[in-house]
Amino acid sequence: MEIITSEAKSASYDTTVLRRIVKITVFTAAFVLLPCFFFYNSAFSFQFLPISAKGKEAYKLDKILKNAAMGDKTVILTTVNEAWAANNSLLDLFLESFRIGNNTERLLNHLVIIALDQKAYARCTTLHPHCYALKTKEMDFSKEAFFMSHDYLEMMWRRIDFLRSVLKMRYNFIFTDADIMWFRDPFQRFYSNADFQIACDNFNGNSSDVNNSPNGGFTYVKSNHRTIKFYKFWYSSRVTYPGNHDQDVLNKIKHDPFITKIGLKMRFLDTAYFGGFCERSKDLNLVCTMHANCCVGLSNKIHDLGIMLDDWRKFKSLTANTNSSSSSWTVPQNCSLKSFHERHSP
Ligand SMILES: *[C@@H]1O[C@H](CO)[C@@H](O)[C@H](O)[C@H]1NC(C)=O
Ligand SMILES: *[C@@H]1O[C@H](CO)[C@@H](O)[C@H](O)[C@H]1NC(C)=O
Ligand SMILES: *[C@@H]1O[C@H](CO)[C@@H](O)[C@H](O)[C@H]1NC(C)=O
Ligand SMILES: *[C@@H]1O[C@H](CO)[C@@H](O)[C@H](O)[C@H]1NC(C)=O
Ligand SMILES: *[C@@H]1O[C@H](CO)[C@@H](O)[C@H](O)[C@H]1NC(C)=O
Repeated sequence: MEIITSEAKSASYDTTVLRRIVKITVFTAAFVLLPCFFFYNSAFSFQFLPISAKGKEAYKLDKILKNAAMGDKTVILTTVNEAWAANNSLLDLFLESFRIGNNTERLLNHLVIIALDQKAYARCTTLHPHCYALKTKEMDFSKEAFFMSHDYLEMMWRRIDFLRSVLKMRYNFIFTDADIMWFRDPFQRFYSNADFQIACDNFNGNSSDVNNSPNGGFTYVKSNHRTIKFYKFWYSSRVTYPGNHDQDVLNKIKHDPFITKIGLKMRFLDTAYFGGFCERSKDLNLVCTMHANCCVGLSNKIHDLGIMLDDWRKFKSLTANTNSSSSSWTVPQNCSLKSFHERHSP
């Protein structure tokens, strides 16, 4: 099973056995490679993102963000690798959703696509005006990364580090996985007084309750000293919880007194507006985004997201004049966590 986003949180809950095996592997790898790890890590950060201050990369990134930003310095960010940016893959579906969504096409002007490899960058430039190549010398992020593999974890943690840099450059952002379809402007559904807002695999009805199960595939974060501290804390916590991905670590640190201490205002977004295959946005009159979470396998995602876009098109044509209460999703079909269990349960 191969997925490059963090959506497989529920998968990770349901597959403790696999997770344990993976963890042992990761631990072993970390232990054996420990001396190189630190060297590699510092070398990596240096070559990967000298976005720390005045470097050439920081300048380049700032120029791209500035061109895409809204008046209040907010940008929409997504990341793609070669597999996701390929012809008729997720990136095409993602961009299409903005075009057929209700008043979402204009948001494409504010979208910056972060390419994780050269081929993804090349494809991006043929489709979109705001592309940024995140340079990595040591890692090849072009292929589908196996869930919880070393590459998968690296890619996820790069993302957190990158987003921290963006906050430090004083940009607010919506981060969205490219397997999230945009049907309506999400800004109307955000909380106005929150620093950090995050979508959920499952929503328990209370947007302030940290016991919700957040999904790092969709976040809206305002740049301020609290969020910069929070992302720094989140990123550094990967050392505290080795072998975990960013979302698992978030689930651990969301209870940490540090969050209260820095005064971070965190909110969890209702799946009625920000849904997914784990828990769908039931009412098509309300949906803003739908995520191909709880789904294993790139071809399954592509298959089901294509159908999801068709469902939306049908809904739109039916409701050209009136609200239709009869419309509903016909997905998930191929998407599930089942293949995950079947293939990996002992
Ligand atoms: C992508 O598909 C289009 C037609 O759908 C074709 O013209 C183009 O060459 C393809 N690009 C790549 C990189 O395969
Ligand atoms: C699209 O948005 C417009 C204006 O915001 C609204 O009047 C219309 O009902 C919306 N259509 C759908 C399908 O939500
Ligand atoms: C929602 O959760 C917060 C934080 O746990 C709690 O203080 C509040 O009472 C909850 N609200 C409701 C309506 O349960
Ligand atoms: C359509 O549905 C939305 C959300 O349920 C509601 O806010 C709106 O008033 C409805 N519009 C009509 C014309 O019924
Ligand atoms: C989706 O599922 C159907 C029925 O199980 C299967 O025939 C088809 O090949 C699947 N499609 C993809 C893209 O996996």
